[in-house]
Formats: sequence, C-alpha cells, structure tokens
Amino acid sequence: MANLGKEIKEAKEALEAGGLVGIPTETVYGLAANAFNEESIIKIFEVKNRPEFDPLIVHVSSLAFAKSLVDEMPKSAEKLAKAFWPGPLTLVLKKSDKIPLSVTSGMDTVGVRVPNHPLTLDLLKSIDFPLAAPSANPFGYASPTTAFHVNTQLGGKIDYVLDGGPCSVGIESTIVSCIGDTVEVLRLGGVTLEEIEKTLGKPVDEIRISSDKPNAPGMLTSHYNPGKKVLIGNIDHNLRKFPRARIGVLSFKRTFKNLNVTKQIALSPKGDMKEAAKNLFGALRKLDSRAVEFIITEKVPDEGLGKAINDRLLRASQR
Ligand code: TXA
Ligand code: MG
Repeated sequence: MANLGKEIKEAKEALEAGGLVGIPTETVYGLAANAFNEESIIKIFEVKNRPEFDPLIVHVSSLAFAKSLVDEMPKSAEKLAKAFWPGPLTLVLKKSDKIPLSVTSGMDTVGVRVPNHPLTLDLLKSIDFPLAAPSANPFGYASPTTAFHVNTQLGGKIDYVLDGGPCSVGIESTIVSCIGDTVEVLRLGGVTLEEIEKTLGKPVDEIRISSDKPNAPGMLTSHYNPGKKVLIGNIDHNLRKFPRARIGVLSFKRTFKNLNVTKQIALSPKGDMKEAAKNLFGALRKLDSRAVEFIITEKVPDEGLGKAINDRLLRASQR
C-alpha cells in the first residue's frame, strides 16, 4: 500500500523526484507523473500494464498553460476550453516539441485537459510541469473513483495517493479532437454531445470505433472490465434464463424483490443520470467483489450522460 493522504506537499515532492502519484479528479482518479520526464512516463506504462500504443492525457492548471504545449489552438478548441475547463473535457490538439513522444505514443497530437478538483488544481499550480495521467487502474479494468480503489490495485507500485474523496462525475472525460477545421468526438464522457454541439453551434461527428485499432486507442472494444463476466440485456429475461446461477444485478433504478440485497445495486433509484454516472464504476467493483458468478446489467436511457454510461457498460460486457 502506498502512503495515502491529503498532503499536496507530499504529492509534489514525489512527482518532482520522478515518482508516481494517484491524483483525484472530478472524473476518475489518475496515475500521474511529470509529463516532461520520460523515465517517469515509462513507469506509468509499466505500472498499468498499458500497451505502448495508448497515449496519455496531459493535465494542466490553465488554458494558458495548455496553449504553451501545443502548436495550434483552433477557435473551436478555445471555445470548448472556455466553456468546459476546468472540467471533464479533453482536447486532442497538434502537439509542440515540449511534449515527449512517449506521452503521445509517437503521435503528433496530444490530449490535454484542466481537471476540476480543488486538490489537484492546487497541486498543478504548485509545480512547473504538466502531469501526464491515465486513469489509475490496471489496463482494461474499471476506472477508480475513490483513493481506496487506487490504493487497493496499484498501491504497492506507486509513491503516494492524494485522497480527494469520491469523484463527483464518476465517468471519464469526453475527448474531442480539434485539428485544423475538423472537430470530432473520440470518446463520450462527462460532457455530453449535446453540450459540445450547443457550444460550437453546429453538429459534431462522434467517431464510433469498434475495431482493434481505434482512433482513441483506449477505445478498444473490450475495456472497463470489473473482472467477472458482465452480461448486458433485459434483466428480467436474464434472471429467468439463469435461475440457479449466483448473479449480481446492476440496474439503472429498479430493485428486485427475489434477489439478495447484497447482490443488486441500482445506479440511481430516483433515475438521475448524474448520480448513475457517479456510482457506475464503484458499483461494478462492488458487485465484482461479492459471491456472484457473473453480473447482469441493462442499458440506461440513451441520452445525455446516458450515452457515455451505455458505452462503458457495453465495453465492460465485451472480452
Ligand atoms: O477523465 C479522464 O480523462 C481521466 C482522468 C484521469 O483525467 N483519464 C483517462 O485517461 O481516462 P485514460 O488514459 O484512461 O484514457 C485516455 C484516453 C485513451 O483512450 C487514449 O487513447 C486517449 O485518451 N488519448 C490520449 N491522447 C490521445 C491522442 N493524442 N489522440 C487520440 N486519443 C488520445
Ligand atoms: Mg482508462
């Protein structure tokens, strides 16, 4: 287990020494290192067991700092940054020479964002380098939304976990690529497609990737696995289909009378999509830890944040 606490000074010192620190953001916890330090970047890939072809997001404290790391900031990108930063939006932009190729997996673009968490913003302001940080989970596993999740899985391999409490959004950032005049959504997350389109005043394409060589490499078909098999579909139907199995149930808002309460979780009993997103990864982890053989779940209404939740559920069910 790594040292865990709220000490910005301790996090800062570990990062300055080239170490790895779990950091809280509003979306999910990140596994952070100095983005200018190639040895530290390599450590991130090792600790996560992450394939080299999957680039890291760079976290900064301000739009001005983000501009200093890229070759161009198209008008569309600036509009989005001003509307959503600090917040759950990552912009993919043409990178400058300041960003090592190890961060971007050799690509000439970089993903940047200003996270919206007071501790991490203070940490970012206290250092003079940006933080490269993927989600702080072993590759392919559900993202961590508490410091405890991080410490349980990666604690033995990192220097410190900055504990900022449970993540308020609970689902990763929305990734939007802005290269020249082309704007494309590469991953739906905490900012909805509707919000992006409203801000830009035009429709934006969402690039749906289902191959093994995706555009945003983390968008491999199979991802966000809690460990046990996840089956997505009609819950009533699947409960009837497997009458004797020990099943964990992850529903949107319903509860099931004939099922042990420890084996079922409703993401939001009142049907609130924000609450559902916030609870998603924690609920998957919790059911995974229970005495169940597999987990059955259902799609949530496919609108707003629901689209991002369904995307994660679908990927969790594929392996
Ligand atoms: O909310 C988040 O985005 C969290 C917190 C920690 O900031 N981070 C996160 O990182 O989800 P990660 O590494 O788990 O997912 C980042 C995704 C990956 O799918 C990666 O391929 C994609 O961003 N990505 C990063 N840089 C990219 C680039 N230059 N072009 C296309 N996709 C990129
Ligand atoms: Mg991830």
